[in-house]
Amino acid sequence: MKLPAGPKIPLWLLNQQLQADPFGCMDVICKRYGDIITVMSGSTPIVYVSNPSGIKQIFTNTREITARGALNQSFAFLGGNQGILQLDGLRHKHRRKLLMPAFHGARIQAYGQRICELTEKIMSQQVLGKPFLASPTIEDITLRVGVEVVLGLHEGERYEKVQYLFSSVLKHPQSPFHKLVMKLPFGKRNFGHWSPQGHFFYLRQELFQLLYTQVEERREQADPSRTDMLSELILASDETGEPITNEEVRDLLISPIGAARDASATALAWSLYWIHRLPLVRERLLEELDNLGDYPDSKSIVALPYLSAVCNEALRIYPTQLFTFPRLVESPVEVMSYELSPGTVLIGNIYLTHQREDLYPEPKQFKPERFLEKQFSPYEFLPFGGGARVCIGATFALFEMKLILATILSRYQLSLVDKRPERPKFGGLLCYPASGVKMVMYGQRQRQRQPHQLMIN
Ligand code: HEM
Repeated sequence: MKLPAGPKIPLWLLNQQLQADPFGCMDVICKRYGDIITVMSGSTPIVYVSNPSGIKQIFTNTREITARGALNQSFAFLGGNQGILQLDGLRHKHRRKLLMPAFHGARIQAYGQRICELTEKIMSQQVLGKPFLASPTIEDITLRVGVEVVLGLHEGERYEKVQYLFSSVLKHPQSPFHKLVMKLPFGKRNFGHWSPQGHFFYLRQELFQLLYTQVEERREQADPSRTDMLSELILASDETGEPITNEEVRDLLISPIGAARDASATALAWSLYWIHRLPLVRERLLEELDNLGDYPDSKSIVALPYLSAVCNEALRIYPTQLFTFPRLVESPVEVMSYELSPGTVLIGNIYLTHQREDLYPEPKQFKPERFLEKQFSPYEFLPFGGGARVCIGATFALFEMKLILATILSRYQLSLVDKRPERPKFGGLLCYPASGVKMVMYGQRQRQRQPHQLMIN
């Protein structure tokens, strides 16, 4: 059996290069080896695919290729042993069905106003002329929204504490100090509450305990009229008709809140970066928004074609999640003329698919117009992955992105502080703006009643 070619360097070294310069590293590898590449992890071949026909197979061939939960073991510490990423097969399908409604249809429309209110609340705390970082500011908004949609908490001590613990736990592994300590000989050992690793374990334990208490209390006061994800899970039965245990309910809540905070905030921080780096894009967006009048409803905002194209282009050029979650070859299968044997791991390379010249001419240029001129298939444009593990929050994420961007752009005047390009930083799963997108607010903004003359067509 001949595997696709790929770099011969050890995986740990490749990972280090990816951390330092994710896009540069992948561009070089793709140029040399093409759109199907093997990287060995010990004796296991990991095959990265960025060809739409190969991606289609990964997403649709469910007989020979599966989305095994065991492949996501590294996320179990943060996401719980029974989180959605750890599940597969029928149980995975069943739990996805339970989680989906909270993030779809009429349910999300009801959150429109709240998302805009929270955006104004957080943004109005910025001091005029004083630089702030867009990433943590937006995380504050998206975490609040996530906690409301998933847990149905809106205010109070519990709401604040859940937010504090969530952001501490998610931030901890990304901090430069934590990364440095992890490289030390005993850095990964837990020496108690005051050691870096011990403190991280303590925060995680506190978060899990608090969420468990929330599940217990909500079960005692189950209310069928509530529409948050937690209330629905408590009333749901598993595939055998039994109630879902409190521990499993807790684990199922974690990934959606984490993704709602991190993935959405990262996509928004990159969007703000591009919009403020390219004045013509900002102007065209503002004209589209201003034309909606003073109090547009969320449906009209979400339907705006140029705003939608800007969000798509932001998710194309620097996808928040560079790769799909891994899939496993269960029985021999041919992918792009390579015969792959059972045990081979397949990963969709979202970044490299979005960088294909044949699909996206001048791929390094931020050009929202490409999404107005052409429709891309789900195997060509895949910021939310696809198939068995396609993002359950995709519709909600786009809805939220558009409302937050529309609120910020139409109410506030912002600019980037740093004129140098923002570098990407690959942090385990997501690709963040390395310096957090430093911005400054220099004024409030009124809607322009006369559409301004645009220099763009
Ligand atoms: C712009 C924001 C977001 C991006 C770019 C994004 C991207 C992704 C991607 C690429 C995947 C992997 C799909 C695959 O392996 O094929 C995924 C899975 C997932 N996403 Fe998102 N996501 C975003 C927001 C959200 C939100 C708001 C939620 C909240 C519900 C969410 C929840 C999840 C979950 C639970 C999974 C795992 C699904 C499973 O294992 O079955 N994501 N997302």
